[in-house]
Amino acid sequence: MSRVFNFSAGPAALPEPVLQRAQAEWMDFRGAGMSVMEMSHRGKTFMQVAEKAENDLRTLLAVPEDYAVLFLQGGATGQFAAVPLNLRNGSQGMDYIDTGAWSGKAIKEAQKYGPVNIVASSQSHGYASIPDPATWKLDPDAAYVHYTPNETIGGVEFHFVPDTGTVPLVADMSSTILSRPLEVSRYGVIYAGAQKNIGPAGLTLVIVRRDLLERKSPTVPAVFDYALQTKNDSMYNTPPTLAWYLSGLVFEWLLELGGLAAMGEINRRKAGKLYHFVDNSEFYRNPVEPSARSWMNVPFILADDALDGSFLKQAAEAGLSGLKGHRSVGGMRASLYNAVPEAAVDTLVEFMADFEQRHA
Ligand SMILES: Cc1ncc(COP(=O)(O)O)c(C=O)c1O
Repeated sequence: MSRVFNFSAGPAALPEPVLQRAQAEWMDFRGAGMSVMEMSHRGKTFMQVAEKAENDLRTLLAVPEDYAVLFLQGGATGQFAAVPLNLRNGSQGMDYIDTGAWSGKAIKEAQKYGPVNIVASSQSHGYASIPDPATWKLDPDAAYVHYTPNETIGGVEFHFVPDTGTVPLVADMSSTILSRPLEVSRYGVIYAGAQKNIGPAGLTLVIVRRDLLERKSPTVPAVFDYALQTKNDSMYNTPPTLAWYLSGLVFEWLLELGGLAAMGEINRRKAGKLYHFVDNSEFYRNPVEPSARSWMNVPFILADDALDGSFLKQAAEAGLSGLKGHRSVGGMRASLYNAVPEAAVDTLVEFMADFEQRHA
């Protein structure tokens, strides 16, 4: 068996110890005589899995007691609709910060439910920076302020938490959650699709401050109803049990590694190595303003895009997978999520240096 270094943006690499443990538990889950995905979600065995995953996540993120943690479905895209449906009941406007492809999709979805104010946008800068907070036109009466802390496609990241006063801050953390410590109490709602730093696709994590649970619109679908799902421990309907279990194994792996402070240091080093190499090369370029560069998704372009095809082909031959940039922007992108080891970055940098030497 040979596994590649996987730089995919999502679904993405999972930690090998997690895959090995799942494999060992696959046929007979902890003496139940069946696999974890074949048993009732309401039985004692799965309930223990579910509770442990939630408790471990709470420990990792130091989630305060006045926040509910939900394990839902529908992806982050489902949350683009769930957020307005849960947090707005009346005529209030919704503030959105536009920093690229994913915030754009969140905006488009929210517009179906009420007036959206785009309080700041980096569109005129090619989405290569974060708009200066001093210029944001926040509405003090808005239902909430939504932003995308890490734009997975553009490789642009907020390295600060926006101050929105008493207006709840909502964050799509799909591609940055668990990459380093986080101050949950700064947020009203945090949501994330699982398939990058949490676990496999099919699970959506939502962390919501409990005082926001009763704001919902009467038309919110039951499966997306934060209050209803909180009351039912995320089991109002059948949850994605396999993804929940696997995510729990990822949380255990993170705790064993030393938690998010330790993970954050590793991630800082990984990203630092790749940016340092790109910045010192005449052949590769990263288009993002240095203060807004993502730790998780590093886009880079080659001096001559006619070489893109051979770069990808040779990278694949060298065991480096998933480097093709998003179809909307082209070029390359290396996603450096938690499960991508530092050795993967070292190997990538070596490969890039060698390719440059042969083609520059
Ligand atoms: C920042 C961000 N938001 C939203 C999404 C959409 O997530 P999903 O496919 O889980 O709906 C993605 C997917 O890559 C993403 O990176």
